[in-house]
Amino acid sequence: MFDLRQFAALAPDWYLRLQYHHELDSTNDEARRLAEAGAEHGTVVLSDHQTAGRGRRGASWVCEPGDGLLFSMVIRPSFPKTNWSRIALAAGIGIAETLNAKWGVRAQVKWPNDIYIQDKKCAGILTEAREDFVIVGIGVNVMSAPPSENARIEAIAVADVVQSPVSREMVLAALLTGIMTEVDACAGHFEAQLERLRKICYLTGKGIKFSAHEKEFSGLVRGVGFDGALQVEVDGEVMSFSQASEINVL
Ligand code: BTN
Repeated sequence: MFDLRQFAALAPDWYLRLQYHHELDSTNDEARRLAEAGAEHGTVVLSDHQTAGRGRRGASWVCEPGDGLLFSMVIRPSFPKTNWSRIALAAGIGIAETLNAKWGVRAQVKWPNDIYIQDKKCAGILTEAREDFVIVGIGVNVMSAPPSENARIEAIAVADVVQSPVSREMVLAALLTGIMTEVDACAGHFEAQLERLRKICYLTGKGIKFSAHEKEFSGLVRGVGFDGALQVEVDGEVMSFSQASEINVL
C-alpha cells in the first residue's frame, strides 16, 4: 500500500492535492470526473490498482499493486488548444530528466510518450483532452516491471537500475514536481524544452518501422523538429510526423 505519511513528509504541497484510492477503474477516468466537477490545475489522482487501466491505442495497462505508480494529473492549460500536443512531450521530458537527476538512470524519451531505460520501457503516458482541460495519465514501473507486453517491448523498473533504496513515495514526490514544472513551462519557450528533448531522444539515429496516415513507413530517425514532430528520413527524404502508431525499432 502507498504510504501516505511518507509521501506527506516528502512532498507536503503535493499531499494536499493528492486523491488516493486503493482501487479505481482508471485514474484517468477519475481525474476526468473530478475535472468535470471543477477540480483545479494540479489535482493528482493515484491508485494502487486499476480495474480498467488504459494504455495508448486501446491497449490495457497492467500493474500489480505495489509494483509501480498509477496516477493522473488534471491540467488546465493557460495556452491555446493548438499547442496542447506539447503537454505529453513536456511530461515525458519531466519524467526522464527527473529520474536522471535524482537517480542517474540515463532515462530517455521514446517519442512521443514512452520512457526507456537500457532499451526497455519504464513508463508510459496517456494524455486525454477535453474542452477545457487535459488529463495526463502516467504509469511507472518502480519496484518491479511486469512481464514483457509482447516479444518486442521489454519492461524495466526504476529499482532494477538504482543501487540506493527507492520507494514509490520517493519517485512520485520527485516526478510530480518535475512533470508540473515542464508542463507549465511548455506554454512559453517550447524550443528550449525541445533542445533538451533532443539530448534524451531514444529514437534518434535508429531505424524504425511504423504506420501513419494509414500508410506503412520505415526509415532512419533524424531527430525532433521545431514543432515536436519526429523527423524521419524515408527513401532519402526527411519527413515530419506529428503522430504515429507504435514505433518498432528495427
Ligand atoms: C502507454 O504506454 O500506452 C500509456 C500508459 C498509461 C498508463 C497510465 S496508468 C495511470 C493512468 N490511468 C490509465 O488508465 N492509464 C494511465
